[in-house]
Amino acid sequence: MHPLARWKLRSVKPYVPGKPIEEVARELGIKTRIYKLASNENPLGPSPKAITAIKNALNHASFYPDDSFYYLKKKISEKFNVCEDQILFGNGSVEIMLQLALAFVNPGETIIAPKHTFIMYKVVGNIIGANVLEPDIHPDGYVDLDNILLTMPPDTKIIFIANPNNPTGNMIPQEHIERFMEQVRDDVIIVFDEAYYEYASYFTHFPDTFKYIKEGRNVVILRTFSKIYGLAGLRIGYGFTTPQIYEAVRKTRLPFNLNSMAQIAATSALDDEEHVKRTLKITEEGLRFLTSEFKKLGLKYVPSFTNFIMVRFGDKTKMVYDTLLRNGVVTRPLDPYGLHDWLRVSIGTMEENKKFINIIKEITG
Ligand SMILES: Cc1ncc(COP(=O)(O)O)c(C=O)c1O
Repeated sequence: MHPLARWKLRSVKPYVPGKPIEEVARELGIKTRIYKLASNENPLGPSPKAITAIKNALNHASFYPDDSFYYLKKKISEKFNVCEDQILFGNGSVEIMLQLALAFVNPGETIIAPKHTFIMYKVVGNIIGANVLEPDIHPDGYVDLDNILLTMPPDTKIIFIANPNNPTGNMIPQEHIERFMEQVRDDVIIVFDEAYYEYASYFTHFPDTFKYIKEGRNVVILRTFSKIYGLAGLRIGYGFTTPQIYEAVRKTRLPFNLNSMAQIAATSALDDEEHVKRTLKITEEGLRFLTSEFKKLGLKYVPSFTNFIMVRFGDKTKMVYDTLLRNGVVTRPLDPYGLHDWLRVSIGTMEENKKFINIIKEITG
């Protein structure tokens, strides 16, 4: 580390993303198809409507993007029935997390980022020099809100709550959210990260967190175009909040953080209900297939309300991950999350799911 670097940066561990396909091909010399089931991307690809829109817009790439996000903002405002001064945008929802921390957390104040949850909350906290506290999650794999209430110190500024949780995939029971919102102090920003909202609300009843924003509570809801809309490579996250929080957060946003192609693609993807439906169907079928195979193989897994699932291989986990990788299937090892005995696998097409299961059968059988 450079001696002039901010001392707080010394504890920052850079985020380790899922291995890109090109890297696996290069490192392992694999010439055949590589199956990437590591980053919870959409196996059907981007919305076809988004692809067409981007192609048409490429000629305008010499201009700076619209920094007011006019069309995208209007569309989201209409679709979700929310005022335009309540919609946040980021270069991926991870950027909104950083914007929030920059807007609300002074160095040394506390951010709550539960253990075994999306790592970017911790990365963001460390970047800005916050004290990051990691309360345990519930043994069933969802964020334990009661435990957060018990452990949060008086200087807590932001609580990040992934629901459903990544990497476990499980959801917080609705009554826990209601109880938590009744008891939590009002001088804290509560961030409900709902990156997998579309899947979860298809699989089950999804708790209404928007009502807290309507009530004027200090709540932010984060959503993304990276998952259901298949636009992870364009980096588009958005969020809902109160006009007061919006006012503070916008001051931390760099101009032009959403490029033109991202804005155009997202605006068109919101209209592509067919693509969303197909994605949900394929995810439901894939989850059903994987869980029934895991049961047959006697493998422990956590029930998932998302497009990924966490499965336990115990002390064989590293060997299973390496064998899958050598066979061209990229999954996600969970060591950075402190879950050494588990792998996370994204739901793919049925061909991809079967390829994964067949290798698992060979290894465990
Ligand atoms: C819980 C959670 N939040 C946010 C994100 C990041 O989304 P984006 O691509 O919009 O930055 C992910 C990505 O995997 C996630 O799992």
